[in-house]
Amino acid sequence: MEKIAVLTSGGDAPGMNACIRAVVRTALSFNMDVYGVERGYAGLIKGEINRLGTRSVSDMIHKGGTFLKTARCPDFKDKEVQRLAVETLSAYDIQGLVAIGGDGTFRGARDLSENFGIKVIGIPGTIDNDLNYTDYTVGFDTAVNTVLWAINNLRDTMHSHDRVSLLEVMGRKCGDIALYAGVAGGAEYVLVPEIPYDLDEISKSIKKSYLRGKTSNMIILAEGAGNRDEIAKYVQEKSGINVKVTNFGYIQRGGSPNMQDRVLAARFGYKAVELLKNDSDSCAIGIKDNKVITVPFSEVSTRTGRFDTELYDIAHTLSL
Ligand code: ADP
Ligand code: F6P
Repeated sequence: MEKIAVLTSGGDAPGMNACIRAVVRTALSFNMDVYGVERGYAGLIKGEINRLGTRSVSDMIHKGGTFLKTARCPDFKDKEVQRLAVETLSAYDIQGLVAIGGDGTFRGARDLSENFGIKVIGIPGTIDNDLNYTDYTVGFDTAVNTVLWAINNLRDTMHSHDRVSLLEVMGRKCGDIALYAGVAGGAEYVLVPEIPYDLDEISKSIKKSYLRGKTSNMIILAEGAGNRDEIAKYVQEKSGINVKVTNFGYIQRGGSPNMQDRVLAARFGYKAVELLKNDSDSCAIGIKDNKVITVPFSEVSTRTGRFDTELYDIAHTLSL
């Protein structure tokens, strides 16, 4: 294979730029031409595509976001719209595509592969860590560390005022950001979509902890686990203690990628191009027990139902 393209799609994630850089520099080292598609599948159908060189990715490794930009393109589910993407690739004689994104991006990749025979390699890039086949996705670790920074700040002010803090974090239907930030930040309660919780129990336990002399508590709520304002109102009424809500929002999706995300991006980007160079079948790349793995798109799904209950139990035990 001599000509490939790379795109980022879905929600951006820290480390996407490092990943594009790895794809570009690996391709050039294999004497392949490499093109960058702007705005994911939306740009691919419109022909927003440019040749990239080694300097195109200079000074990018430490930057959050994605310089290729990203987009959601709901129309891409339509086969006739996908055909427009194939026409763009054909016009540039591009034989392979690297798609960096999450589950939705991989569904688009699978369609391009199955419906049109395009070789597509998927690299997991999403803060949500919500894919079933990989231990980590690019962006997750940085997002959790950003949430930790927020937890540290919240602790200071909540402790000073004897308040309960409820911090909502992202993750769609996956509770990993909440779980890992909760464990690392010493949160008393971690509410995730994967595990049922009892607000009566939580309110009683908060009240008891105040009577014992523990005057501030931290609740981390995964966005898919309930409505933050309703939960806060309920706990405040039942416990009699002031609950302050923070929705951390998009701040957790930006920022310079940390070591883990940059190294993951480098390993994934290199592997993706190596697979295309060898004309391998379309697949998704992941990491399992610190080894880079590949799985067919047919085995990829969102990670509902697979959750680290052991870590969740540890969070609970340590919250006393
Ligand atoms: P993520 O890749 O992070 O899961 P999205 O769910 O928004 O983000 O998906 C990214 C893009 O992938 C969508 O905007 C759309 O262009 C494409 N996509 C999503 N689902 C499908 C599907 N079922 N078939 C084809 N393309 C899809
Ligand atoms: O998939 C990443 C993510 O940030 C989710 O955690 C969140 O639910 C969603 O994207 C937000 O999407 P948008 O950027 O379209 O508001």
